[in-house]
Amino acid sequence: MTATGESTATATGQRLQGKVALITGAARGLGRAIAQRFVDEGAEVIINDLNLAPARQTAGELGGHGLACDVSNSASVAAMFAQLQDITPRLDILVNNAGISGLEGDNTAQQRVQDMVDRLEQAAAGEPVETDTTTMELTDDEWHRMIGVHMNGTFFCCREALKIMNPQNGGNIINMGSIMGTFGRGGGTSYCAAKAGILGFTRALAHEVVTRNIRVNAIAPGWIHTDMTDPLAPMHPMLKAATPMGRLGDPDDIAWAAVYLASDEAKFMTGQTLSPNGGWYMSQ
Ligand SMILES: NC(=O)c1ccc[n+]([C@@H]2O[C@H](COP(=O)([O-])OP(=O)(O)OC[C@H]3O[C@@H](n4cnc5c(N)ncnc54)[C@H](O)[C@@H]3O)[C@@H](O)[C@H]2O)c1
Repeated sequence: MTATGESTATATGQRLQGKVALITGAARGLGRAIAQRFVDEGAEVIINDLNLAPARQTAGELGGHGLACDVSNSASVAAMFAQLQDITPRLDILVNNAGISGLEGDNTAQQRVQDMVDRLEQAAAGEPVETDTTTMELTDDEWHRMIGVHMNGTFFCCREALKIMNPQNGGNIINMGSIMGTFGRGGGTSYCAAKAGILGFTRALAHEVVTRNIRVNAIAPGWIHTDMTDPLAPMHPMLKAATPMGRLGDPDDIAWAAVYLASDEAKFMTGQTLSPNGGWYMSQ
């Protein structure tokens, strides 16, 4: 509102009018929900995912373009940005959302989740807690993959995006962190390290590009129900009980945060972490 009470907000449905947005890992989950809200707000969206078919399918459903690449692979990211520039000369918004939990394709995942539940129950009951062996059993490949997708992927995509955004003297980058980037959790050291790294990278990059009219922020979601958190189903009752709002979030709870950060309504926000988490973790 202005001093005279006149609203300066952009009308809903037009906040991202004329903007071009690339969202990584957007064939499903949080990325897809963000892409959907961006389209609703008038943006042209480019949907990245690991494989072309799901990226194209989501793009077709939402009305955008689908591009494939593994964001952890520097050459593939550069190739994807070359393809992107065949579609559009400009890029206004980059959302670095692609991510993994580390449980993908692990046939011991169910047992690992049950072990986590058992340890939480043992601790709650005041019983001796079994040793958590996650970190001592983590392989080099598993560690590198986690850091590669989240940290390296965020860096590789930002590096390419800045080659467009710096000369265009404007842009907006949103990096997907997690409450796990600040709240440590046993059994998730590589994930927590990757997400903490993304939050640090976000603040430093925000400083670096502020004079080029580029804002860089992070979102740190709480527990959101997606395919990624489905394997944690046995833990859901505990997670809900530990969340003051008493539920897991849904992807739209995160999509609205992304719309806000990407829009001019957040024009004084840079280097910040916005954390929709139902009160699970309270800060500042
Ligand atoms: N769901 C949650 O509770 C939660 C909480 C905090 C943060 N996050 C973060 O939000 C992001 C999205 O999570 P989600 O819950 O929607 O997960 P999801 O598994 O439903 O979706 C992730 C998408 O990323 C894609 N992807 C994975 N690796 C990729 C790669 N190397 N290159 C390109 N695409 C890749 C997957 O194919 C998938 O489509 C992730 O960064 C995740 O760490 C999720």
